Amino acid sequence: MKIAVAGAGYVGLVTAACFAEIGNNVICVDIDESKINHLNNGVIPIYEPGLDKLVAKNRKENRLEFSTDLKSSIKQSEVIFICVGTPPKDNGEADLSYVENVARMIAEAMDSYKVIVEKSTVPVETGEKVVKSIRAYNIHKVDFDVVSNPEFLREGSAVNDFMHPDRIVIGAESEKARETMKALYQPLNAKILFTDIKSAEIIKHASNSFLATKISFINAIANICELAGADVEKVAEGMGLDKRIGKSFLNAGIGYGGFCFPKDAEAFIKIAEKLGYDFRLLKATQEINNFQRKNFVEKIENALWIVKNKTIGILGLAFKPNTDDMRFAPSIDIINELQREGAKIKAYDPEAAGKAKSILNNIEYCTNPYDAAKEADALLILTEWDEFKTVDLNRIKSVMKHPLLIDGRNIFDPEDVKRLGFSYISMGRKDN
Ligand code: UDX
Repeated sequence: MKIAVAGAGYVGLVTAACFAEIGNNVICVDIDESKINHLNNGVIPIYEPGLDKLVAKNRKENRLEFSTDLKSSIKQSEVIFICVGTPPKDNGEADLSYVENVARMIAEAMDSYKVIVEKSTVPVETGEKVVKSIRAYNIHKVDFDVVSNPEFLREGSAVNDFMHPDRIVIGAESEKARETMKALYQPLNAKILFTDIKSAEIIKHASNSFLATKISFINAIANICELAGADVEKVAEGMGLDKRIGKSFLNAGIGYGGFCFPKDAEAFIKIAEKLGYDFRLLKATQEINNFQRKNFVEKIENALWIVKNKTIGILGLAFKPNTDDMRFAPSIDIINELQREGAKIKAYDPEAAGKAKSILNNIEYCTNPYDAAKEADALLILTEWDEFKTVDLNRIKSVMKHPLLIDGRNIFDPEDVKRLGFSYISMGRKDN
């Protein structure tokens, strides 16, 4: 099939490359000329495992091209995916101006039947607005369908998530649109759930909000475990063995970050509010998430007594492993607070240092965990990169000023590290 993808951001690039990989002819369009030039020279603007190879292969085989010409790509395509950004406005609502703009451009350019798919995360009722806007600017008076097909791609495993989804959600109002979307996704051999447009839109916000709530729930349990002298890892294991609960997303720690959960939870609260519902549960999820960061800083203060002029080493800056993404990373709030109190910060992250440099100032960026630990009064684990799980702890201990390990992601066994002579503090476990 011929497909246009509007937006060469995170979602757009992965969507374009993966649809090309399963045999479609895809044009990925962006207004950012320098981004398109880079992509045409084989430079991928984001770090996503496997994406570079997929882009290179499909460009070579002429199934994937990059362009700034939205108009011509619309004319050539049967299906157009809207993958432009929907960033949060100051009040937490999603800014839909890019979506509106693309919808208008599609309407003006299209000269034959098109399926127009919203893939960007949008508030419920956006589909209706897109339909209205396209009708208003549909100068060639052509037939069209709008579909909601939310993405559930995790950073760091987006290509794999696209190729092997748990489910594909398609909100459509016509048989023709449903058939087109079904044919498009057929090579993936995945479970497809057909719904109306509004339900599909809500599935996206509800799923992310539920996952965020699951994380805050286990973090609340972690705090209770600390107070009671229990072990949250065991509690999570015991809960997770119940199939209805499941064991994933029950890792206690310094809380969720990234561009999706914080933004989507905030947006969903606003959506509910506008519809007349006070989403108190989701507000509590946010509150607990914010508390985890403060609580972690308190642990550091309690352990060091005076933070001022102490050297604090940090392992991990990205909001989660296998990404260089720093957006809404817990590390930002934690480091800012420690710096405000006068700590000297040294940090190492396998991928995120480049992006961190534009957000966090006055940090000594190190090129390995041992340099970050050197002469430190405390070493913090803020992201659970695999590299940290196998670090030589004896070497770490030998270079630190004081062997204090404060683990915000519970990557070590408390007994093991204590046996090596560390003072060890973690999340929701005994002997903190
Ligand atoms: C998420 C959704 O998973 C994805 O479906 C959606 O499309 C975009 O948002 P992503 O932001 O890439 O994906 O991150 P994810 O892997 O889901 O993790 C989100 C955050 O939760 C991270 O900060 C992670 O550290 C945290 N987390 C996750 C926990 O604190 N504990 C857990 O048990 C799981």
